[in-house]
Amino acid sequence: MHVIRTLLPTEFGLLRAHLLRLDPEDRRRRFAGQIGDDAVAAYVAALDRFRSTVVAWIEDGQVRGAAELLRFRAPAGTRAELAVTVERAWQDRGIGSELMRRALTIARNRGLDQVLMVCLAENGRMRHLADKFHGRMIDTGGEVEASVPLLAPDAWSLWQEAIDQGAAAIGEALEQWKPSPAAAKGVRPAQARVDPRAEHLDGGRIGGRRGALRTTTPRAGERPGRCVRGRAA
Ligand SMILES: CC(C)(COP(=O)(O)OP(=O)(O)OC[C@H]1O[C@@H](n2cnc3c(N)ncnc32)[C@H](O)[C@@H]1OP(=O)(O)O)[C@@H](O)C(=O)NCCC(=O)NCCS
Repeated sequence: MHVIRTLLPTEFGLLRAHLLRLDPEDRRRRFAGQIGDDAVAAYVAALDRFRSTVVAWIEDGQVRGAAELLRFRAPAGTRAELAVTVERAWQDRGIGSELMRRALTIARNRGLDQVLMVCLAENGRMRHLADKFHGRMIDTGGEVEASVPLLAPDAWSLWQEAIDQGAAAIGEALEQWKPSPAAAKGVRPAQARVDPRAEHLDGGRIGGRRGALRTTTPRAGERPGRCVRGRAA
């Protein structure tokens, strides 16, 4: 089960983990050169939370694909740069295209008129993606700059974004009822119990999933296989 949604700035650590997991060749393509783990971490730490929007493909609490939209500072404030990444095992499933579509819809609805993507000239996959979204390409030698012109927002583009967000909300809601690994293996909990303390101690969020039920190692005096909510239990 996956969810596609924008990350809160407080979740940018998930983006960092995703970028660090990229295959070395994909990391080189993303940053147009070889960079180390420290530089990736520094890049994410320096992201301006007010100008950045990250649309993420999330599976089991991990970001497996991301479209990073970074609005330029004034006077070029109606333009943004876009970078898309998808982890190797998730590529060629249409994820990059979907993330890009959503990021472009958001850019359009925020009144931006142009989104730029810069990639290495050898990056056929990204060039193909840019072409799919009517990017105008300029070859600057080793790199290609693709510029996607955006129309003004209209009722349909706003509706499209609302549908995307609605789908994300439904996905998150379904995700919270996903069975624990033990339950997925057919281990039936003897009894389900909701511990009210969990709401106070961690807001009911366990590993990013609100209200998830999971099995825990039984304590002395507890019956094994019990399903409890929250790490406070
Ligand atoms: C570029 C990238 C985001 C694409 O993600 P993805 O999820 O594989 O993309 P999609 O599955 O939506 O689309 C891939 C398309 O490229 C096509 N393709 C695959 N290899 C290709 C190649 N060598 N040359 C041209 N097109 C290629 C596929 O056939 C597919 O086309 P289609 O949508 O018309 O069927 C991903 O490959 C990636 O993360 N690359 C490393 C990072 C990077 O280069 N980022 C761009 C720089 S910002």
